[in-house]
Amino acid sequence: MRPLEIKKDVFWVGAVDWSGRDFHGYSLSPLGTTYNSYLVKDEKTVLFDTVKAEFKDQFLCALAQALGEAKLDYIVASHLEPDHSGCLPDLVEALKPEKIFCSPMGEKAMKAHFHYRDWPVEVVQSGSELSIGRRSLRFLETRMLHWPDSMFTYIPEDELLISNDAFGQNWATSERFADQVDPSTLKRAMTEYYANIVLPFSSVVLKTLDQVRDLGLRVDMLCPDHGLMFRGPDVAMALDAYRDFALQRPEKKAVIVFDTMWRSTEKMALALADGLADGGVGVRVMSLKANHHSAVMTEVMTAAAVAVGSPTHNNGVLPLVAGMLAYMKGLRPRNKLAAAFGSFGWSGESVKVITEWLESMGMDVVGPGLKVRHVPEHRDFGQCYDLGRELGRAIVEKVESKA
Ligand code: FEO
Repeated sequence: MRPLEIKKDVFWVGAVDWSGRDFHGYSLSPLGTTYNSYLVKDEKTVLFDTVKAEFKDQFLCALAQALGEAKLDYIVASHLEPDHSGCLPDLVEALKPEKIFCSPMGEKAMKAHFHYRDWPVEVVQSGSELSIGRRSLRFLETRMLHWPDSMFTYIPEDELLISNDAFGQNWATSERFADQVDPSTLKRAMTEYYANIVLPFSSVVLKTLDQVRDLGLRVDMLCPDHGLMFRGPDVAMALDAYRDFALQRPEKKAVIVFDTMWRSTEKMALALADGLADGGVGVRVMSLKANHHSAVMTEVMTAAAVAVGSPTHNNGVLPLVAGMLAYMKGLRPRNKLAAAFGSFGWSGESVKVITEWLESMGMDVVGPGLKVRHVPEHRDFGQCYDLGRELGRAIVEKVESKA
């Protein structure tokens, strides 16, 4: 892999994972990802993060070219998740850095991951500064964005902010900067990444954005540990996008997500969609057989409402629906309306089970849960349509009251 000089004596030295398809259940298909690492050459030479262990060869090749004759003095471990720390033991062994800097929680995570005895680890406090020659490094702890150990580093002389996982996108590219790629694909990748990784930590995002503003940090280049980097006007675009994501402002949009056994629940979903659409609401109808739960979650993040459907199966819901509800709950979407529906044969528990899940997420469930025995007929479609209209009215009211 070739390194890229992104500012004078500052290099991208990461690895591109063209074939990565899964990150803890978040589907990376079809875009893959990158693991970004950064090298700064000054009186002290500093490496920020490493890459996933499987990509060691790509990474070491780029790092060796960027280092040239220089010695690696310091490593900053911004986050110990193995996609960024996977090559740390090999680097420590081979290059014997003078110091490894991390946050207070980073030290605990590093010990628990690597069980080292004599690594030269030094904990840095949030707000502390370290001179490396012409430049200084300012550390900003970003605990729970998205792990307890996470931290940013700001380099004022370069107006450069290394943000670890924040502002990332899972997108394998040959381009390195946001201004080199299609803006709508980039926005989609940012949205998907936020919805599936960062969403539960939205309050930390808002606090961090306020800190960056209140500290008066001038950022000319924003360097996340995944995907494209942002420079010039794209920095403000990325910061603004994160504020929008974190605020979870509902759009006039509903997601209908369901699985179906003999298509009765699917037919109910389509009638519900008609009611919503006739109420002036955008609808995404997402069968879980056709859509991965992370694609559903990307749509749910910006929608005002989610309607979940499942036939009753073994006194509960179908497995794909159970998985979807568990995944959604973990990501803690806020400020949503909801509805539940589904067909049944004899016992009919699915709608109750779904409603309990939705309420446990703090969602405001609209209307009665709709149940249809075996196969819906004309009257049932009317009830589904009416529920769609009722949910649509609630969505319009909710969105317009926030306008
Ligand atoms: Fe990209 Fe939290 O790892």
